[in-house]
Amino acid sequence: MSDRILVTSALPYANGHIHLGHLVEYLMTDIWARSQRASGRRCVYVCADDTHGTSIMIRARQERRSELELIAEMSAAHQRDFAAFHIRFDHYGSTHSEANRAACARTWEALRAGGYVRTQEVTQLFDPVEGVFLADRFVQGTCPRCGATQQWGDSCEKCLSTYTPMELVDPVSTLSGAQPVVRSAHHLLVEVERLHGFLDTWVRADGTLQPEIANYLTGFFLSGPLRDWDVSRPAPYFGFEIPDSPGDYWYVWFDAPLGYIGATAEWCERHGESLEDWWRSASTRIVHVIGKDIVYFHTLFWPAMLHVAGWSLPSRVQVHGFLTVNGEKMSKSRGTFVLARTYLEAGLDPTHLRYYYATKLGPRADDLDLDLDDFVARVNADLVGKLVNLASRTARFVTGQALPATYPEDGGLFAEGAAAHDEIVAAYEAFDFARVTRLVMGLADRANEWVARTEPWALAKDPARRDELVAACAVALSVYRQLVVYLSPILPELAGKTAALLGRPIERLAEATEPLVGVTVAPFERLLDRVDAKRVAAMIEASRASLPGSPPPADPPGPARETPAPIDEPVAPTCSIEDFERLDLRVARVTAAAAVAGAKKLVELTLDVGAAGTRTVFAGIKGSYPPERLVGRLVIVVANLAPRAMRFGTSEGMVVAAGPPGKADERQVFLLAPDDGAAPGLRVR
Ligand code: MSP
Ligand code: ZN
Repeated sequence: MSDRILVTSALPYANGHIHLGHLVEYLMTDIWARSQRASGRRCVYVCADDTHGTSIMIRARQERRSELELIAEMSAAHQRDFAAFHIRFDHYGSTHSEANRAACARTWEALRAGGYVRTQEVTQLFDPVEGVFLADRFVQGTCPRCGATQQWGDSCEKCLSTYTPMELVDPVSTLSGAQPVVRSAHHLLVEVERLHGFLDTWVRADGTLQPEIANYLTGFFLSGPLRDWDVSRPAPYFGFEIPDSPGDYWYVWFDAPLGYIGATAEWCERHGESLEDWWRSASTRIVHVIGKDIVYFHTLFWPAMLHVAGWSLPSRVQVHGFLTVNGEKMSKSRGTFVLARTYLEAGLDPTHLRYYYATKLGPRADDLDLDLDDFVARVNADLVGKLVNLASRTARFVTGQALPATYPEDGGLFAEGAAAHDEIVAAYEAFDFARVTRLVMGLADRANEWVARTEPWALAKDPARRDELVAACAVALSVYRQLVVYLSPILPELAGKTAALLGRPIERLAEATEPLVGVTVAPFERLLDRVDAKRVAAMIEASRASLPGSPPPADPPGPARETPAPIDEPVAPTCSIEDFERLDLRVARVTAAAAVAGAKKLVELTLDVGAAGTRTVFAGIKGSYPPERLVGRLVIVVANLAPRAMRFGTSEGMVVAAGPPGKADERQVFLLAPDDGAAPGLRVR
């Protein structure tokens, strides 16, 4: 076991407020960090605001103030929200810090020294009004495949196809509304493919990644060559200028993860520690907690950079799923896009959300649902009905009085709880907080049965049975404290109140194995209120009411993100067999194939579809299939697709290929083909 643990959450973007979705991650990390400390380990939790990029720059311009002012305000708001939910960082920094600049420079030098950096002209859409290059998510237009309007620059939500912003019909910059122009600039790229072997081993290492994440990476990314990673952006850009390439800035995703190191460096500075011990030493375990949408930044680029620069590799990257509310994506119009602040302003208790999320968080990266009715019912039943009741029904009989010096006979109740210690510690370590809460509530059920059988309130009516009453209260309070100790990483505030009530601090999970003796019980104060369903309704109303005046970009709106699509992007609606039959899928043979001048990915295919004749089809597959390799092979074509006029000619169908859901990666296209013996013209069904 290592001496030190460093745990991080992803750095929240400075261009948006913290919402209930974010809180999944920060609560999850906070609970884990607290559980590590409560198991006696040295665990430091650092985080920071992610401040760079085009969004912040544009927003500052629109608000006519400096980026520095904007990010300072957002950082304060983020930290205030986190603190209100009892999320305790050892340090909260910013990616716009000198410590981070230094970490970036050091890493950059190593990449340069290793010869990993090359230069390339990159063509992108450019907003002539704002004077900036446009990331995919800053462009909207008409889908080149299905004609749906108001689609993003990288993919269509209607037909789920993916493309480059240059293919969009009638593109518009979402920043200024201007029509973008095509422009090129030189960029600096990191040749990640040279680290393929290293990454392959790292990704498969036991315990580093959840199995489903490792499989996703080996299946989608590591099965083919890794694309060079574009890490620079031309001015103007809010970020750090690259020291040896004036006028170029590190792309936000280059300096953001280095912010983990920058924040640690600041913490070290403040506490007289050495950064080398925390980031360049085998005796520190580094654990990252992230959402499933940013997996490949943390499991491909990030370890590659760390490896080249000699920083420590994370020993674990724990991925969580996305929050849904009432079974659906968070939505502004339904009022389920709830800011942390709106939850608090509705008068809801952060402890309740901490508990509810804990009951839903397991070791896998599954999505989790905040079902608002279930939230009310579950928290009231478990925390108030089962847990706090153990204390509230007994403490008042022994207020101001010392509990017996010897723990009374309880039929093995306390011992049963103590025996669960190791299992609970292991569940915390595995991020299986759902299991922790299940185990504890199982114990609470048995404790409540014991109290119901013993009936302290009946004993209280008979002065002759005073000793029995005190003994019963000592048992109930001991077991109550035992369960609160187990839940203390999840419910730190309740643990604090319980410590005050029972005259003994709660610091370690191991304290759950020692019954409470000899302490004096303080006057009973409210430990926890029930969740009030009316407040939940008010929170939803308030969230709906705070809809912005300007049209939201997408649902969930959130900040414009320069990130890839999540792992399991949109689920298509069900399709009947009749729907499927409407597609005329045919086997076809490629008789000619040529690259299309002026289009990055397009290949013009001439297809022999047997009796159905000859077709010309444009396909965006050049990255995976050089045209010359296509001639002669069999493909599947959608033969009854409405012809579509493109800049280069008319496409009379579409060839069928497989690829990862979500964002297009032209290197990951796999053409479908029939088995040997099939002939052009055969129908697929
Ligand atoms: N700035 C990047 C992370 C850089 S890390 C070097 C970013 N920021 S974010 O603000 O968009 O998201 C921060 C974290 O919150 C991410 O891990 C993200 O997955 C998580 N979540 C954001 N919305 C979420 C839900 N609706 N549900 C669960 N987690 C979500 O990404
Ligand atoms: Zn479309």
